[in-house]
Order: sequence, then structure tokens, then C-alpha cells
Amino acid sequence: MDTTSLNSLRLAHLSAPMRVAISLFLVMMGLAYAVSVFNLYLTYNLADGEPGLTAEDLRRSFYGDRNRTLLAAKIDGGSMEQFLPVPGHKETILSWLQDGALEVDFPRVEPILRESCLSCHTPGGIMGVRRPLDSYERVKAVTVVDRGEPIGLWARVAHTHLMSLKLVFLCLGVIFSFCGVGQGMKAWFMPMPFAALVIDFGARGLIPYAPSLVYVMMFSGALMGLSILVLTMGPLYEMWVLDRHRLASG
Ligand code: HEC
Repeated sequence: MDTTSLNSLRLAHLSAPMRVAISLFLVMMGLAYAVSVFNLYLTYNLADGEPGLTAEDLRRSFYGDRNRTLLAAKIDGGSMEQFLPVPGHKETILSWLQDGALEVDFPRVEPILRESCLSCHTPGGIMGVRRPLDSYERVKAVTVVDRGEPIGLWARVAHTHLMSLKLVFLCLGVIFSFCGVGQGMKAWFMPMPFAALVIDFGARGLIPYAPSLVYVMMFSGALMGLSILVLTMGPLYEMWVLDRHRLASG
């Protein structure tokens, strides 16, 4: 092997400790990806009130249900309906909304909220900072039109992902470049996760203006899954399964 040329280096030629270190990076990458998919599932699968992550969940989460108030959308066929198991409670809140969500009528719904919602939506609860519901004024604030997740949340998630993942994708790409696959494969798969990430966050940012972009988001998710699969499994296969002696002599 010409050791002065990086181009002729193959992963299978590396020493065992180097292959172990690279493999650990790739396995951790796979784990991190699996956990992030699980997190996405937990966060959004109930947005339409039904288990399973669908285009409707994404539309409800990022575009909203603009014919209704945020509160009605959440408790009627949305992610908060599960916390209203007592028959009649949901209907009581919906009729209060229908009647104009007046302060004089608030005593009709206040005990229901206290019983079913305040464990989380109160200062100290998991939604106490983002969305407390422990007074009339605070509940009134969720009787606005449901426009989906605030764009500030998108900005926060997008900036941390773009900042950190570009480096991870560079590592994956460089490792993959030392696989013995054709230049065509490399030209497709090395840039693919970068493209998928940009398309994903771009589509997410524009869904409030064009809800059908949820399908573009799903496409970018599939692209991301495919690229992570190829960029991790390809090098692992090359390092541990492929006949290393055949490579060394070739
Ligand atoms: C186990 C904790 C928990 C309970 C109980 C709970 N919520 Fe939530 N709620 C959340 C979380 C987490 C979110 C953010 C995720 C989401 O929107 O699905 C949320 C979001 C909301 C939102 C949207 C807030 C926003 O700014 O987008 C509303 C409205 C809401 N809940 C109302 C209720 C009502 C009404 C009840 C009682 C029937 C209730 N919640 C019970 C945890 C809870």
C-alpha cells in the first residue's frame, strides 16, 4: 500500500485499536439517532389524539388546527384529551369555550383543570414555565386560534442541531470516504445528511405558511434515516466483515 497517499487508505487497513475507536463512534451515532427518533415519536405521536406518527401529527404540531382555539384543539382529538377520562369533563370545557370563555363562567371549568391538568400546568410542574393554566387569565391565553408550536421553539431546536450536527456529519462522511465503494456512492451519501437536515428545518420553518410541506419534512426524515444507515453500516461492514486480507493485498 502507498502509505503517503490518503486516497489509497482503506478502513480495513487500520490497526485494531483505530477500528475499535471508529466503530464505537459509529455505534454511538446509531444509538443517538435511534433515541432521537424515539424522542420525536414521544413528542408528536399524540398530537392528533391517535398513537402513531403521521403527517396529521406534524400538521397539527407545526401548522395548528386553525378553525379552533388552542385549548379546544388540545383536549378534543389532541394530545391533552388523554387527561380527561371522566365523561362530561371535555364537553364542559368545550361548551365554556363556545360560550365565549367568560370569567363569570370560569368556576364551571376551574375544578376540572385543577383535578386533571394542574399537576403539570402549574409553576413547578413540567409545563409550569411554558404554559401555566392556574388562573383565569392564563387559561384565557390558550383560547386563541391554534397556530401550532411557536416559531421560537423551532429556532432553538434548529440552531443547536445545525451547529452540532454539521461536525458529526463531517466525521461520518470522512470515515465513509475510506470505504472501498465507488465515487458515485460517496458523492451521493456523504452530502446526504447535510441536505436532509437543511431540508427538514427549512420545511419546518415554512409549514406555518404552507402546511403541505409536512410531506417534505417526512421525505427529509426518510433521507436522514437512509444516510445514517449507509454511513454507519458501510464502514462497520468494511472494517469487520469484508475479507481484510483480500483488501490488504489489493
Ligand atoms: C402529564 C403532564 C400534563 C398534564 C396532566 C396535562 N398536560 Fe397539557 N401539556 C403537557 C405537555 C408536555 C405539553 C406540550 C406538548 C403538547 O403540546 O402536546 C402540553 C401542552 C398543552 C397545551 C398547549 C400549550 C402550548 O402553549 O402549546 C394546552 C392548551 C394544554 N396542554 C392543556 C392541558 C389541559 C387542559 C390539561 C388537562 C385536561 C392538560 N393540559 C394536562 C403536559 C400535561
